[in-house]
Amino acid sequence: MTTEKLDEQAREILRSNDRGGYTVPTSGLYPYQWNWDSGFAAWGFSTYDVHRAWFEMETLFVGQWDNGMVPHIIFHRKAFGYFPGPDVWGVPKTPYTSGITQPPVATTFIRAIYEADKYYGRVRLELMYSRLVAWHRWFIKNRLEDGAVVVTHPWESGRDNAPDWDEAMQNVDTSEVEPYVRVDTKHVNPEMRPKKEDYDRYLAIVQFGRDCGWDEATIRKHGPFRVADIGTTCIFLRACRDLKAIAEELDHETDEIRGWIKTLESGVKGLWNEEHGHYDSRDVRTGKLTNTLSSASFLCWYAGVNDERMVAQLERVLGKVEYGVPSCDPEHPHFNPLRYWRGPVWGVVNTLIGLGLEETGHTELAERVRQDTRRLIVEDGFFEYFDPIDGRSAGGDHFTWTAAIWLAWASPSAKGRL
Ligand code: GLC
Repeated sequence: MTTEKLDEQAREILRSNDRGGYTVPTSGLYPYQWNWDSGFAAWGFSTYDVHRAWFEMETLFVGQWDNGMVPHIIFHRKAFGYFPGPDVWGVPKTPYTSGITQPPVATTFIRAIYEADKYYGRVRLELMYSRLVAWHRWFIKNRLEDGAVVVTHPWESGRDNAPDWDEAMQNVDTSEVEPYVRVDTKHVNPEMRPKKEDYDRYLAIVQFGRDCGWDEATIRKHGPFRVADIGTTCIFLRACRDLKAIAEELDHETDEIRGWIKTLESGVKGLWNEEHGHYDSRDVRTGKLTNTLSSASFLCWYAGVNDERMVAQLERVLGKVEYGVPSCDPEHPHFNPLRYWRGPVWGVVNTLIGLGLEETGHTELAERVRQDTRRLIVEDGFFEYFDPIDGRSAGGDHFTWTAAIWLAWASPSAKGRL
């Protein structure tokens, strides 16, 4: 298929997943607005409809809580076929939302949208600025541990069943989980989804949050799952750098943001796994590193941490697969090329890794990551994720964020940078 046709198909996916100012990740499997999916969607829209791009971000922030948190799902209107819905989260808010957040890519993409729309975008950026600051302050106040960002549910990391969480998840008590029926496995082959034991634990953590009224102080003290995540930490550090640039553009004070950047830089350093030679995540309840090299470890460059030690790791991992970047090191004992975040390639993570590599001068590696992503989409379509060994498509089809990163980064016609 020609580039033109693929570009048009990608735009058509964004159009058909539009529910009136926000996109669903894909119809059926995920029928609401998801936080970081929307950030990518907005960036995709900005390649041909900048007004719609802003709108995507504005509808996301409609769900922002008074304490600044931007939830991982906004349930704008009733939909069927997704579990756990608003009744399980128990958040007394209109619109209904989930009770946890997701990686804050929004700040970075809002800056990119503004760059594409400097004249009319200035006022929209001004409106957005205080909301972004409130979300960043929420992270700083509630989620920092030795300078790294703690996730209180695997879903907050965006990498639901990554092997990184296996040990910490062992400590989650599932004896009180209320009966439930999953629906994700009706949309997608169960082999490609998290297992039942994962789901029991996901729900136990949701019930804990709901029962304490989503009180961050209680979650910090007694939450069943608290892991300093290298992925969210790198994405938040990057978001702080972009927030600083936005503040400068709008003539706001930047001292506070500069302080955050310093703290987070030391947080990333603290997640270095000396024994295995890579960035890692840490279970803050036990103090133990997870000993997992995941694709999130390669977000260091995106965070502006130009660490040459990670280059050799990336080259080794890419040498093991036909299509990079696998979400988990193929040499890890729990690597699984099909099961969601335990091995498959995700175009969105590739994009962030590729952007970081390019920005720090690792042009060849950046190009390999982009070419691999392009081939996967050209050969298979706009799927949710792909097998890194044989390139087989997996998960949902007509996926918003895969279409979005195609338009903004992976297509031969794309600008390919922020
Ligand atoms: C899955 C992914 C998560 C994503 C969501 C919607 O839960 O793990 O990262 O945001 O689906 O696409």
